[in-house]
Amino acid sequence: MRASGDYEPWVHKSYRLYIAYRRIGMRLVTSTVESWQATIHAFRQQPYVYSYRVGMMLLRSRVIRRLVRLYSRHLLKQTQNLVETLPARSIRDIVTYSKLSKYHFTQLYALCRYLRPRVVVETGVGLGTSSLFILQALEDNGVGKLYSIDEPYSVYQSDAGILIDESAYCANGDRPGMLVPNELRDRWTLLLGKSHELLPVLCERLCSLDFFFHDSEHNYRNMFQEYSIVWPHLRASGVLASHDVEWNTAFQDFADAIQRQPIGWHNLGLIMAS
Ligand SMILES: C[S@@+](CC[C@H](N)C(=O)[O-])C[C@H]1O[C@@H](n2cnc3c(N)ncnc32)[C@H](O)[C@@H]1O
Repeated sequence: MRASGDYEPWVHKSYRLYIAYRRIGMRLVTSTVESWQATIHAFRQQPYVYSYRVGMMLLRSRVIRRLVRLYSRHLLKQTQNLVETLPARSIRDIVTYSKLSKYHFTQLYALCRYLRPRVVVETGVGLGTSSLFILQALEDNGVGKLYSIDEPYSVYQSDAGILIDESAYCANGDRPGMLVPNELRDRWTLLLGKSHELLPVLCERLCSLDFFFHDSEHNYRNMFQEYSIVWPHLRASGVLASHDVEWNTAFQDFADAIQRQPIGWHNLGLIMAS
């Protein structure tokens, strides 16, 4: 390296300035990389939470909502065709069949075709994907009614302390169940409010039901409470189904309490009444 005395004073000054800028630049780059690393690390630690939040952000866009509508119709058609040729003919076969098990709503369609329920109750509607698939199954069976309970704009805390903000389902002024087309609404009753308040009243009114599906507030207290309210009203051939059973131990604890062996597949759990 040449001695600084070899330079003219202005060259010497600009060289020092260059070094100073380089240090600042390096620091900026390092801190940006570090913050990216921290973000990536956080994503790896809680991939579900972040993908959920990104999904909810996207759902606020009208374009995305239109795409979801188109895609759900396409999936429904595909599922209808698939179920026509379904080789498996038992509840366990249906939920474990690989071509159906990617989404809970395709499983719900197949289960409702198989069980031919007359009264179905679900909690948690959101955009209405599960409602759409259940209602289409009832329509294809030519029998049955669906009663759905939903508390719009819900925000709650999971047992893991994560804030679940579900207000995006009703973005742009949409009501819960925006995916359900008019031609399927004759078989549908949508009740707005908290499930733990409305479910006991609804079950008393209906007396008995054939199929129950939980997909509302996924915390231990609410899940266990919903299962306990519905269970005495299930017909002997009835089925209790729950989404997101892996969020806590409520589903397994309930099955233990009533001494039943549940069928579990990914995040869907089923308990047969008999
Ligand atoms: C995950 S989304 C339901 C998705 C829908 N089942 C499907 O498969 O497309 C959950 C819905 O439950 C609603 N919800 C949350 N807590 C609730 C509660 N305590 N009672 C009733 N609905 C609730 C939310 O507002 C949201 O619309």
